[in-house]
Amino acid sequence: MISSELSSDKEVASSRLSFLRDELRFHAHQYYVLDNPLISDGEYDLLFHELLKLEEQYPDLVTPDSISQRVGGAPSSEFQTVEHTLPMLSLENAFAEADLLEFEKRLHRFLNLTEPISYMAEPKLDGLAVELVYKDGLLIVGSTRGDGRIGEDITNNLKTIHSIPLRLQSLSDLPIPELLEVRGEVFFPIDAFAQLNNQRTRNGEPLFANPRNAAAGSLRQLDSRVTAQRALDFFAYGVSNPPQLNVTGQEDILNTLKKFGFKTTPNTRLCRTMHEVISHFDELTETRPTLPYDIDGMVVKVNSLALQERLGTKARSPRWAIAAKFPASQATTVLRDVEFGVGRSGTVTPVALLEPVNIGGVTVSRATLHNQDLIDQKDLRLGDTVLIQRAGDVIPEIVKAITEKRTGGESPINLPSQCPECGTQLIRQQKEDGSLAANHLCTNENCPARLIRKLIHFTSKAGLDISGMGKKVMEQLADEGLVKDIPDIYRLQTKDLVQLEGWGQLSAQNAVDAIQSSKQPTLGRLITALGIRHVGEETATLLDRHFQGTLRNLQNAGKDELLELEGIGEEIAASITHYFSSPENIVCLEQLLELGISLAQPQETTTNQPLAGRVFLFTGSLASLTRSEAKARIKERGGQVASSLNKKVTDLICGDKAGSKLQKAQDMGIHILDQEDFKTLVDPSFE
Ligand code: IVH
Repeated sequence: MISSELSSDKEVASSRLSFLRDELRFHAHQYYVLDNPLISDGEYDLLFHELLKLEEQYPDLVTPDSISQRVGGAPSSEFQTVEHTLPMLSLENAFAEADLLEFEKRLHRFLNLTEPISYMAEPKLDGLAVELVYKDGLLIVGSTRGDGRIGEDITNNLKTIHSIPLRLQSLSDLPIPELLEVRGEVFFPIDAFAQLNNQRTRNGEPLFANPRNAAAGSLRQLDSRVTAQRALDFFAYGVSNPPQLNVTGQEDILNTLKKFGFKTTPNTRLCRTMHEVISHFDELTETRPTLPYDIDGMVVKVNSLALQERLGTKARSPRWAIAAKFPASQATTVLRDVEFGVGRSGTVTPVALLEPVNIGGVTVSRATLHNQDLIDQKDLRLGDTVLIQRAGDVIPEIVKAITEKRTGGESPINLPSQCPECGTQLIRQQKEDGSLAANHLCTNENCPARLIRKLIHFTSKAGLDISGMGKKVMEQLADEGLVKDIPDIYRLQTKDLVQLEGWGQLSAQNAVDAIQSSKQPTLGRLITALGIRHVGEETATLLDRHFQGTLRNLQNAGKDELLELEGIGEEIAASITHYFSSPENIVCLEQLLELGISLAQPQETTTNQPLAGRVFLFTGSLASLTRSEAKARIKERGGQVASSLNKKVTDLICGDKAGSKLQKAQDMGIHILDQEDFKTLVDPSFE
């Protein structure tokens, strides 16, 4: 009897709760997303308190999409990592109108199109990119961009942002997809930023330099209750996998996102030509100072998803989008001194030490001078008053010296003739055309400055990403003489670390565990981490694929074999062979293998890389694809493209009017494909 009464009370509570939840969700959407409140704050608060009280009474009736979940929860000790199903790419930059026109030309060339392409022009929010994963309409995971592949799980913090729906709204007859990955920007509105800093001044807390830093600081809080106190906001600008929705263009994506309950960026426009894009950019430049949030440019996206698909992506950015940046902010200051830094590959870089100056909310006291040629070209002197600029997160640079302000007391800047760290005579390498390279190099492989940079790079995010082994730690280990070269990292034991300042049993154990679990990198990852001159991530991936993940194959490759690879020229090939023939490096690699480093097979070779190991050559013209497009399709699938007939070629693709190559290739026993065969090989719809 009693229990049934109880359960009926609970039933009443449950239905009231479900009413309150829907009501609050509706009004919160009106208020936070549409900026159109239909009830007063007081009325809203009454409903909200009723919900909180009922949920307190019946904790098992709390649902993950209840608005009460926005207040933040218990702090965590660290963020978990999240692997993005599709990488979060970055964008290429356009700094001038000419860059946009060049972008347009490239698109037409790539697609072999003459008719105009439509673009979506969207303000580029200056905040932080995040991804939100919705399963059956419910927000499951929210993460930062991280390195593009792996981000941090900040779900609890993102849930505190009122304009992020906890559950997708199902308006009209739009079906809720099983899985939806929404991408967008979290930002700090300018007013709220000013208020936050005022409050921090009153509390004697350090101030945030700009809204972007405030957004980053607030999102990376381990205590989501702190995040909940910060007035963060969110605009959605895309989905990771558009085919999940029934849409044909970026414009539709934004409209669909709105229907699901998201805010999208105002001042976005569909443009039918690049000229319209440019005029929208000019308009946005005018509007920018009146906007309640910071934008640092405009993102231009090819609107059609079919064209986006054809264009595909490069290693770091899509071919179908570009960021048009606003002109950099500038300021003048005095060039006081110059410091010379030695990079891991031996390049000596002059760095200007400036009288600190504030540019766009950030204090700048250093700027790179790149090399002697640039110093000479700009005729920079010590003591000069200089114009400096900074664009977005780009390193500040000196635009020019203000020669009118010279007093005669200025002195010339010259790079030292010897390495500032180890005293070795610096050299300037000769380029292919006989001229001197711009950079001064320290060639001493054991130069302490180079060594420490190498070690820092090896464990950093760009290298093997060994957690707990950041810059400071590596400097400490090198200072203590515990790590003198890369293999020494793998010789570290907890007992070595615990005796150092700032270390405990737990942190030492964690560091050693992290080192041990970094022992199976792919070949690409390992060579990126080793920091071979001119070999970045893209080249490393190419080498990984070509040498099928095997270090020995790469070590034994001659310059000629390397040069066969599309994307590897003289300079890179020379640097690779030089690296693998140096006795120090040979010893280093042998020791790493002895210490248990074993290479993992790149995952892609077995899954998305069906053309790995094949080298294609084209002859004649293709009817349905342009050459660039065809090349891109091959490369995406792990194949390579040769520029002339040689013994590495495995497949000849014959278009219309095939030339003499066909006969020669037949004689050489090379596999011949016609256009239909080729289409089947690379057309996504055949997969
Ligand atoms: S599209 C593959 N659209 O800009 C396309 N990005 O370098 C990549 N951003 O931090 C993103 N507003 O979060 C896109 N309307 C917009 C954007 C936008 C700001 C940021 C993005 C990332 C950076 C891309």
